[in-house]
Amino acid sequence: MHVFDDLTAISKQAKNRSILGLFSDANRVHDFSLSAADFFLDYSKQNITEEEFTFLMNMAENAGLEEKIKAMFSGERINNTENRGVLHTLLRAPNAEKYRVLGEKATEVIETERHMQSIVAGVHSGQLLSASSKKYTDVLAIGIGGSYYGIKVGLSALKPFQVNNFNVHIVANVDGDALVEKLNLLDAETTLVVVISKTFTTQETLLNASAVKEWMLKSSSAKQAIAQQWFAVSSNVEKATAFGIGKNNILPMWDWVGGRFSLWSAVGLPLALAIGNENFQCLKQGAYEVDVHFQTAPFDKNMPVIMAMIGIWNRNGLQYPSLAILPYAHSLRALPGYLQQTDMESNGKSVSINGEKLPWLTAPIVFGQEGTNSQHAFMQLMHQSDDIIPTDFIIALNGSSGYTEHHKVLVANCFAQSEALMQGKSLAQVERELEQSGLSSAEVAKLAPHKTMKGNTPSNTLVLQSLTPKAFGALLALYEHKVFVQGVIWQLNSFDQWGVELGKELGQKILQSMSHSQHENLSASTKLLINKFLAGSA
Ligand code: F6P
Repeated sequence: MHVFDDLTAISKQAKNRSILGLFSDANRVHDFSLSAADFFLDYSKQNITEEEFTFLMNMAENAGLEEKIKAMFSGERINNTENRGVLHTLLRAPNAEKYRVLGEKATEVIETERHMQSIVAGVHSGQLLSASSKKYTDVLAIGIGGSYYGIKVGLSALKPFQVNNFNVHIVANVDGDALVEKLNLLDAETTLVVVISKTFTTQETLLNASAVKEWMLKSSSAKQAIAQQWFAVSSNVEKATAFGIGKNNILPMWDWVGGRFSLWSAVGLPLALAIGNENFQCLKQGAYEVDVHFQTAPFDKNMPVIMAMIGIWNRNGLQYPSLAILPYAHSLRALPGYLQQTDMESNGKSVSINGEKLPWLTAPIVFGQEGTNSQHAFMQLMHQSDDIIPTDFIIALNGSSGYTEHHKVLVANCFAQSEALMQGKSLAQVERELEQSGLSSAEVAKLAPHKTMKGNTPSNTLVLQSLTPKAFGALLALYEHKVFVQGVIWQLNSFDQWGVELGKELGQKILQSMSHSQHENLSASTKLLINKFLAGSA
């Protein structure tokens, strides 16, 4: 017997229970909501009672969560398959805390932060000029995965905070079309390039960087363009130097910062160039405040813990396979993609931290899109298919556009969707409505089943005052910790990502076999496809 058996047993009573029925308790909204850091979280539309919530809090306690949180924040090597600590939180902590945990090594971290700030200040003031002595107008960042998603979501989320229309672009995919789209916008003599790769071995990033280098050497008259205008963020200084980037332009990364948690390091340089040092500091401050909340609040008042344990309830108790992230904010349109990596690359695993097969389900399939667009696409399935998809709605009370009527409509739609997903519409209700509209009983019978909605879909609504850099930083930290807690409960290592390796290996192998036409150890299907490519490509 393990604790997940108890969870299965206790969750049985919830399977056919009406969430709406739980609201007969007049205190429910009060008891199942919480304010913390920059947020208000309403989780009263979850299919959960007080007793079940207490069970989940005990489950967290018994999993040793408190010690595990301490272990992470104090730098213990909790990433056991790579023998690394997990200390991205330190990057947003006060310097005294950095020294307390890292000792003298903190100096390099603090100097890197200062270096990054001086680059940003220099570029914005015009003191730092391009190799052709021109003021920079654009930044092109090149990176993928954790060296991309955080910057991408930050650039769109914080667009209203962009400094002086200074343009920051980012390219990730190894697709010439993606690159050409960006290069067409740029002037090589006024573009600063930042290559972000922790390993400096990632195929996509290196190929894109080489192509941009060639473009710059062709398009710029300045001989020193690469040494002067290029920056790298990497833990592989040797490889970055060999690429041609000046030693002083390489900002270090440390093995205790995982790619998907690295926005707080110099990986955030392109975002800091877009929004300025002060705003970038606010972003870190927001995350730091969530770190403090996470470490100090009792579990039943701890937002990341509550969100995590509700996720466990939905995934392992009620066995729902997915999680929809629906920000009702155009500026957060890249958040579902970002959270897919945070969640699925961290917890999409099926062996325990000790390498044993886990007998329970782990990370849900995370997907989403900005509202209201999602309503006109996949939400049909959420309302009427047999799959129940728990959802996180995210909304800011104030928009930044000045279009207040738009914002009111946006908010109304957000609230309407969580209500509709929970309420649904029964057959009897639809029949009544159709009868009242004057349809014949034959017409009512024909149409009614098509118009019923299953309802009983649980959701959280996360409310922000407005989407400031601080609130945005807090939002990312909230989900980081939620994912960490779930990894603890599932007893897996959230900080490695061995699952991406086979694809990389085979990618190299297939690339090589394309030039010498020998396709060993590949299936007939893949051989056929390679031959098709070789015969069909120019
Ligand atoms: O997707 C796998 C991965 O290793 C991520 O964890 C990482 O963020 C990304 O590739 C990019 O790696 P790098 O920063 O070394 O180029």
